Amino acid sequence: MKVLCVVGARPNFMKVAPVHAALTVAGHESILVHTGQHYDELMSEVFFRELGMPAPQVNLGVGSASHAIQTARIMEAFEGVLLAEQPTGILVAGDVNSTIACALVAVKLGIPTAHLEAGLRSFDRTMPEEINRVLTDAISDILLTPSADADQNLCREGIDPARVVRVGNAMIDSLRAHLAHARSRGVREQFDLAHRDYALLTLHRPSNVDDPALLAELLLAVSEVSHRIPVAFPVHPRTRARIAALPASGPTGLRMLEPLGYLDFLALQADAKLVLTDSGGIQEETTALGVPCLTLRTSTERPITVTEGTNTIVGVDRTRIIANVQEILRTGGKVGRVPALWDGAAAPRVVAALQARWGSVGATPGAEP
Ligand code: UD1
Repeated sequence: MKVLCVVGARPNFMKVAPVHAALTVAGHESILVHTGQHYDELMSEVFFRELGMPAPQVNLGVGSASHAIQTARIMEAFEGVLLAEQPTGILVAGDVNSTIACALVAVKLGIPTAHLEAGLRSFDRTMPEEINRVLTDAISDILLTPSADADQNLCREGIDPARVVRVGNAMIDSLRAHLAHARSRGVREQFDLAHRDYALLTLHRPSNVDDPALLAELLLAVSEVSHRIPVAFPVHPRTRARIAALPASGPTGLRMLEPLGYLDFLALQADAKLVLTDSGGIQEETTALGVPCLTLRTSTERPITVTEGTNTIVGVDRTRIIANVQEILRTGGKVGRVPALWDGAAAPRVVAALQARWGSVGATPGAEP
């Protein structure tokens, strides 16, 4: 098979890296295409180096823009790549604008499309990612899901079960492969953080950071948390810009850091007392690591991290956030268990699923299998 694997934004890299590697090991041709949705060294390149992914063969270089313009630029540039490469199929991952943009182009050209991390639903259509998820699943040929709840969501939407393959969580393949090395790099020492004696914070979702009043309220909450336990806060570029634009001076007490690479962020998660986040993937990584996570949103598309894992959805109310942090400091927080098929072997299952469906596409009729 010749599979074109699309990456675009930070959360894609750790999902696609193990699939690209597994395709190559299995003797298939895997072509990495980067849309360039994320482009800063710290938001993109560092991940290729640390995940052992080769530089992308193609970079569309689209950069930042409004949703419509960014999506349109990706589509326009990606069409030419597909026409030139004529792959057996393409693989898109997650729920970012690059995911729907590339899936839509491929499907319109009649090129088979697989969606990794299919079936997740927050049921909140004000989230751009929810729109990207619903649309990508509606049009992709193979829906590779991480958990049973995702299969059920697809079934409820009337999707033919024959299109759905539960492969588990490919991001956990990367986590398992790199955890020991990540921990050996000494990032905690570098930032003077003691084992299980700090909280790790991330905030980047537009619904939290684009509203100045809400952002100020969240920063007040986490500043208050920092009086009880040190808070390390690697800041997404979007969030840094929004904080700088606030009328009041920035938050106090937080250790505001540049965005971290994959390995250092993983190591900080693994040794934290708790994590506060509005990210999707971090809810899953903390569950895999057994570290309590407080999700600063009112919904999650990853309910298994709550029902089986260490995640609690706390919303954005200051009192509630602080009460939940205190509870974790007092009791140690949720213990949880790692969901089935989050076992570090999702990528070979992805390759097997693609091979089963696409393996004979383009084969010479009558040739030996
Ligand atoms: C995107 C995804 C989101 C994911 C997040 C991870 C969509 C709709 N959203 O959101 O699901 O959780 O990535 O980070 O695809 N910027 C830089 N440098 C970069 C990239 C972005 O400075 O390398 C700044 C720009 O000011 C840009 C802003 O961040 O306008 C937002 O970037 P964008 O790609 O539009 O969305 P994210 O908020 O990163």
